[in-house]
Parts: sequence; structure tokens; C-alpha cells
Amino acid sequence: MPEGIFDKVVKIAQSRGFVFNASSIYGGLRSSYDYGPLGVLLKNNIARLWWDSINDLDVQIYPVDTAIIQSSEVWKASGHLAEFTDPMVDHKPTGERFRADQVPEDIKKEDLTEPRQFNLMFETNIGPVKNENSAVYLRPETAQGIFVNFENVLRTMRAKIPFGIGNIGKSFRNEITPGQFIFRTREFEQMEIEFFCDESEEDKWFDYWIENRLNWYRNLGIPENKLRVRDHDKSELAHYAKKTSDIEFDYPWGWGELEGIANRGNFDLNAHQENSGKELSYFDPNNELKYIPSVIEPAGGLTRTLFAVLLSLYEEEELEKETRTIFKFNFDLAPIQIGILPLSKKDELITVCGEINATLRSMFRTEIDITQSIGKRYRRQDEIGTPYCITVDFDTLEDKSVTVRNRDTMQQERIKIEDLSDYFNNI
Ligand code: GAP
Repeated sequence: MPEGIFDKVVKIAQSRGFVFNASSIYGGLRSSYDYGPLGVLLKNNIARLWWDSINDLDVQIYPVDTAIIQSSEVWKASGHLAEFTDPMVDHKPTGERFRADQVPEDIKKEDLTEPRQFNLMFETNIGPVKNENSAVYLRPETAQGIFVNFENVLRTMRAKIPFGIGNIGKSFRNEITPGQFIFRTREFEQMEIEFFCDESEEDKWFDYWIENRLNWYRNLGIPENKLRVRDHDKSELAHYAKKTSDIEFDYPWGWGELEGIANRGNFDLNAHQENSGKELSYFDPNNELKYIPSVIEPAGGLTRTLFAVLLSLYEEEELEKETRTIFKFNFDLAPIQIGILPLSKKDELITVCGEINATLRSMFRTEIDITQSIGKRYRRQDEIGTPYCITVDFDTLEDKSVTVRNRDTMQQERIKIEDLSDYFNNI
């Protein structure tokens, strides 16, 4: 990784419109971020590639989009009300709070209070009267929305085991020590699959999902040497998990979680069946047996993946007089796929850019970029990771051709305007 990559990537993410500090005109809200135009495009692309990859499988994965606020019974049954806690300590001299395993190295142990458990769920109230019956929680994982819809999906889609249910959306955790930009925030997006299978096939599907998800990260362009799989010790396992392996990424500060693959057994369906009194079993027509299926859960972070992608694909290239900075997004992932640049601000060139844009924008993510010199515009497009730029110059008015510049090789070729759609469709 280039030196100082964390600061450089954060700076470009903020200055180029990927991620902004939330409430910035009021001085910001610590560890809260807004996604700007390019960040939204990139995040949407990652989410689309996630859905595309699971639609492409031999096994069926049904999509759902479930409520952030569910009945509090959900969190009682899932164990989150009782168990979703982190040990917290106070630094006596300053009153600062830390997660017990994330205390900065320069703080002395004797200056800390004894750890106490802190529930990470955000509590709020529903309706006009605030009392203990009105308490609800912002979901700390999208997974529970899937479990409580297991029977709905099974029935309406006539689902047959093995099958999965996928859910992407916001989750909320009142993290004691958020930080490292968008790596750990209190509001973030997850992409989760609960994959329902027969207990005898748990290990097979566990291995399947590790390989499947690793491949997905590789296809985003994250290099092999930045990914690894780490199995959890028994002591690390979440209250619902029989076994978990993390897909980890080599962040600038060291290895850290990107996605967790857990064997949740039948913990959740069992718990919801008991708590709700509704049957949540599966009837297997082949052997006429009824059982509560096991669950393998690939649980990834959408916003965390976005950060890993920025860190992985950032490159610097020394040119004669300057350093070129590039996000090497592949064509599918790039927020803007094609920049359309008039050589100058002359009306006749801008008109042609508009015409080209009108043809390409229904197929590709395009942008007309007019501000600054052509050299500076190329640098900006490199820095936001646009794989191709089309330049419209005065010859274009005569020969109906444009220059297409490749971000990575910086090579330019002359292409007829009428051939542009085919050219980009064949990439
Ligand atoms: N349903 C299981 C579950 O939620 P998790 O390991 O706690 O498992 C899954 O979360 C993924 O969600 C993590 O691997 C990470 O990518 C993302 N994630 C969790 N907490 C996060 C936070 N505070 N900020 C950003 N992403 C987070």
C-alpha cells in the first residue's frame, strides 16, 4: 500500500464527493458520515454486484427488505436484549469511555474502572407516549428481519431447502469506540444472507459460503494478499454461533473483519418459535420429516466493503512532473464509467458532448466534465476512478470521431461517435 494511504484515501473520499462528515456545517458529529454522489454510486454498485452474484447461483436466494424497527419481542428472542453487549471501561482521570479491548496503549491499567457490560442497541420510543411499553430498538443486524420472515418466504415462494434469504440495509450499534473513518460507525449498512439447510449439510454449506464470498471480494478487485480467513476461538463466538470464520482484510492498521460467516445452527428459528408460539419448521416432502433447519450466515458490511475497496484500488503513479493518483475500479464498479470532456468550453463542442451523453447515458454511468483545463480534468477523472474519458475536440466537428482515453494505460485512440456504444459494450 502507498505510504500514508489511510489519510490519502480519506482525503480524496472527502474532497471528491464520496463521503462527507455528517452535520459538517455544524462542526460534524463524531464518527457519523454522509455518502456523497460518488459514494452513493459506488455503494449502489457494490450492492448490485452482491445481488447479481447471488442471483447467479444454482441455489435460490430470495430477497427481502425488512423494517429497521421491529417488535421488541424480536430482540428478546434473538438474545440481543440480554447478550448484545460489550465490556466498557472508564478512564478515571478524563472520564473517557473505551471498549475494554480497545483501550489506547498509552493509558495505564490502574487508571481504568472495572469493565461493565453495555448494550449496543439504540433504544427509542414508538408513538406519542414514552413508557416502558413503548420502547423499541433500531436493529443491530439485518439478520433478524430475515428470521422473522422465514415462514412468510417459505409459504409465499414455495421455497425448498436448501435456500437462502438476502437482506441489505442499515444497522445501528451504539459502538463504544467507533473509528477508523467508515470502518466502525454507529450507523452502517450490512448485506446478509441466512442460508437454510439440513443439519447434516452445515459444514458443506459453511465451506461453500466462505469460498463464494472470498471470490466475490476478489472479483471486486481486492488483491489476494489483502484477504485471509480467520476462524474464531470458542471464546470469541457470538451468543448464537456454533462456529464462525471471518473474512479479514489487511487494513492500514492491520488485519480486521470484512465479513463474518457463521454457523447459527437452529438457534434463531428455535428461539423465535418458542417466543412467538408460531411454528417455524420446514416440512421435507421427500422424506415427510418436519424439522427446524440449520442456518449458515454470510454477513458482510456494505459500507466497510466500500472502504476496503477504496483502500485496495488506490494507486499512485510517478509521472515526469507530478504524481498521478488513481482508483483502479473495474468497469462494473466505477461510480462514473465514462467521462465526456469537451477540449474547450466552446458551445459547439459542448453540444456534441450533450449528444454523445444522450446516447450513452442509458447504458453507462456518464458525466460531462467541463471545469478546468483538459489535463486537470483527466487527473480528476483518474482520481475518481473513471475507466474511460471521451474527448471532443475541433476535429470531431469534421470527422465525427472522438478520442477515447484509457485510465490505466493513458493510451488514446480515435473512435467514430457512431461506434462508441459498441466499443463500450464490448469492454
Ligand atoms: N448478523 C451477524 C452480524 O451482524 P457482525 O460480524 O456483527 O455479524 C457483520 O457484522 C458485518 O457487518 C461485519 O463483518 C462488518 O463488515 C459489518 N459491521 C459490523 N459492525 C459494524 C460497524 N460498527 N461499522 C461498520 N460496519 C460494521
